[in-house]
Amino acid sequence: NKVTIGLIPADGIGREVIPAARQVLESLPKSESSPRFEFIHLDAGFEHFQKHGVALPEETLARLRGECQGALFGAVSSPSHKVAGYSSPIVALRKHLDLYANVRPVASVAGSGQKQLDMLIIRENTECLYIKQERIETDANGLKVAYADRKISEYASRRAGQMAFNMALMRDKLRSSIPASERLWQGKPKVTIVHKSNVLSITDGLWRETVRGVKENNAALYAGVDMDEQLVDSMVYRMFREPEAFDVVVAPNLYGDIISDGAAALVGSLGLVPSANVGDNFVVGEPVHGSAPDIAGQQKANPIAAIRSAGLLLEHMGYSGDAARIYQAVDGVLREGLIKTPDLGGKSTTQEVTDAVCKRL
Ligand code: NAI
Ligand code: MG
Repeated sequence: NKVTIGLIPADGIGREVIPAARQVLESLPKSESSPRFEFIHLDAGFEHFQKHGVALPEETLARLRGECQGALFGAVSSPSHKVAGYSSPIVALRKHLDLYANVRPVASVAGSGQKQLDMLIIRENTECLYIKQERIETDANGLKVAYADRKISEYASRRAGQMAFNMALMRDKLRSSIPASERLWQGKPKVTIVHKSNVLSITDGLWRETVRGVKENNAALYAGVDMDEQLVDSMVYRMFREPEAFDVVVAPNLYGDIISDGAAALVGSLGLVPSANVGDNFVVGEPVHGSAPDIAGQQKANPIAAIRSAGLLLEHMGYSGDAARIYQAVDGVLREGLIKTPDLGGKSTTQEVTDAVCKRL
């Protein structure tokens, strides 16, 4: 069983952490059930745009569709000002490959001195404010007024909601295989719906109603999953005070983006948090962090977010055994606490951390 994975390092530290993830995939012990990997290097990113005038080349998309079963994306340096002709390749990839949910597990490692939490954030990945329908007008006083449309559809909200409830069941199943004393989450699985429908009653109201409907309309299937909800601002407050109160959290695109960076702070670094962009036919693993221009090219980047993203990629392609091996190797290195990059207070390089993970594998 050959698995072809597209590697898209893109910009900045993406070029350091994607090779690290590849090295880890290549170091997986060979077993009968594990796949044989083939890797294809693919271009994308802001630097590619500056050289060639396109951020996501047609060839990259065509080869992903035609030859790959999944992909790993590094990070892109999207400028904060408007650049004519440029738009973010990862946002485009999510759209072209219909990767409708961004799955972001944020978990502490027992015994590593981190705050204890084990949550999974499901971020709707295709709409909300990220449809980029912006316009600017001038008011009667000659001052500028900018607007952005926000799209919330029943279709996309339902798919994100289904992903959340399905993942809650899946996590419950996986948890049952570890000893109760080592489980951070002890109760029934739970989905928390994040919204702001007290203010945005039409858009966030539709989101809330639709995600609630996923459980209400599939009562038997999801009987084993509790459901509650949290306004996005109080979500942030509660997440910082009692992160152990959350299991699966499902949020519209923008809120999900913000909450997951916040959650990353609770486990010590953005450099630890992986994600997977999941659709029905394709998966793209992608660390939550950006291109980190402040540390790029210095071997300071923490490769663990990308390595765990490779694990998530395998998990969502059906190779959960190999994924678990990667997670355990990473947890082992973190728990030992000797080899760590500067974001975690250490002095080790990207390569040294990668080698330590591979050695454990
Ligand atoms: P960032 O995530 O790149 O960096 C934020 C801070 O975290 C920086 O101090 C950085 O050094 C640190 N950091 C991030 N990843 C790290 C790692 N693996 N190891 C150690 N430290 C790490 O966010 P920032 O600075 O706001 O954005 C930089 C660029 O990245 C921007 O152009 C932005 O558009 C882009 N970006 C891209 C994303 C993507 O490709 N999906 C997501 C977020 C930002
Ligand atoms: Mg982000």
